Amino acid sequence: MFRRALPIALLATYAAAQTSTTCNPLHKTCPQDAALGTTYETTFNESMTEFDPNFFNITAGADLITFSAKGAELTITNQGDSVTVQTAFYIMFGRVEMIFQAASGVGIISTYNLLSDTLDEIDLEIMGGNTSYVSNNFFGWGNTSQFNSDYEPTTGSQWSNGAMGAMHNYTVDWEQEEIRWWMDGDLVRTQPYLPVGEYPQSPSFLKFGIWAGGDPTLPKGTREWAGGDTDYSKGPFTMTVQSLKIIDSHTNVSSYEYGDNSGSWESIKATPGESNVYKAMHQKSFSQKTSEQWNGLSTGAKIGIAAGIGGAFLLAFVLFVFYCMRQRRQGKAEKALADRAWEAQQAENVEMKGQMSAYQSQMKKGNFAVSHMGHGERF
Ligand SMILES: *[C@@H]1O[C@H](CO)[C@@H](O)[C@H](O)[C@H]1NC(C)=O
Ligand SMILES: *[C@@H]1O[C@H](CO)[C@@H](O)[C@H](O)[C@H]1NC(C)=O
Ligand SMILES: *[C@@H]1O[C@H](CO)[C@@H](O)[C@H](O)[C@H]1NC(C)=O
Ligand SMILES: *[C@@H]1O[C@H](CO)[C@@H](O)[C@H](O)[C@H]1NC(C)=O
Ligand SMILES: *[C@@H]1O[C@H](CO)[C@@H](O)[C@H](O)[C@H]1NC(C)=O
Ligand SMILES: *[C@@H]1O[C@H](CO)[C@@H](O)[C@H](O)[C@H]1NC(C)=O
Repeated sequence: MFRRALPIALLATYAAAQTSTTCNPLHKTCPQDAALGTTYETTFNESMTEFDPNFFNITAGADLITFSAKGAELTITNQGDSVTVQTAFYIMFGRVEMIFQAASGVGIISTYNLLSDTLDEIDLEIMGGNTSYVSNNFFGWGNTSQFNSDYEPTTGSQWSNGAMGAMHNYTVDWEQEEIRWWMDGDLVRTQPYLPVGEYPQSPSFLKFGIWAGGDPTLPKGTREWAGGDTDYSKGPFTMTVQSLKIIDSHTNVSSYEYGDNSGSWESIKATPGESNVYKAMHQKSFSQKTSEQWNGLSTGAKIGIAAGIGGAFLLAFVLFVFYCMRQRRQGKAEKALADRAWEAQQAENVEMKGQMSAYQSQMKKGNFAVSHMGHGERF
């Protein structure tokens, strides 16, 4: 079905890899990572106004995101634009299933990556000027001397105009024994386990978005890797994400902790309990249910309540409102607690702040995590 078309070594002339982390557990003791500990699934649509902050953090380009009936639209219009969305939770082995339409445009990269605090990384990268291939990659410990990129041909009628013509299902299974990359249900790559430092095996969050690898300000190697220089007059360039499903292999765990500095999967400890995501998901379904119940009432019933006809009904309503307010207060208290925990965690990382903001300003320039040590420069 999908033949492995080109010799990997010839293609792997440039590595786009994450090169900084807030706290690297290979070198010190770091705060625990919030776990997903369940399955998170969402379909994006026009009634949404933002990526739910319970589950996502926007680290670049919040104002470049819109929602339509097709999904979440991440758009580059001007030089310097990029969008980066990341999950507020980590998984420890599991599956990512994202259905999206990649942005077209030379040098425009639509991507998702699993990333860990030790800079283990699993990538999917789609070059918007290349209708023939979709690329994927992985790294251990952010080591850009590892050339693991692969290019999967987009053959078959559903791939007309490559990845840019329609929505496609890109799924990654990340397990201890192997990693599998799928495209529209076809298994396109299988990578068996390698030693620690070469094979991703530490708690990872998902990061996805769009950036211009072909921006004229970036090094030549990056632009070549991206497929050429971006011509912004051909924009806007939009990546449309229809849906996302993330499965954590561990269930009913609230956080992940590194037991030592080895970075090995065997050293990772999971704390049992309900994760913040799990709690947020269940709180959400409660409020959704109550609003659906209210919407489901007939106009007469609503008027009845409003007018106070039927003492029992009114009493029940008052009690119901009271209950809701209590629930909300509890929710607020929990959030305040979580915020304080996060602030404390930030305080511990304060010595890394300089590095973080340098990285963030790199993002604003449209640089989605490229190592300038890539070999493209040398070839
Ligand atoms: C959009 O998604 C939300 C949350 O899943 C759902 O409640 C709503 O019905 C959806 N709206 C449309 C128009 O599909
Ligand atoms: C999430 O966003 C908040 C607010 O911008 C930020 O303070 C925090 O560092 C982010 N958290 C993660 C896990 O990136
Ligand atoms: C598409 O990518 C493949 C693999 O890197 C490369 O050989 C080919 O030249 C690219 N095509 C275009 C139009 O960039
Ligand atoms: C990076 O990976 C290469 C290839 O696996 C290996 O030879 C090299 O020692 C690694 N470098 C570091 C700093 O771990
Ligand atoms: C996406 O692909 C995966 C892997 O083939 C498959 O298990 C899953 O059911 C697909 N999702 C949808 C919504 O078709
Ligand atoms: C989740 O873990 C907690 C703490 O170990 C336990 O009390 C609870 O029963 C577990 N819940 C489920 C659904 O397994």
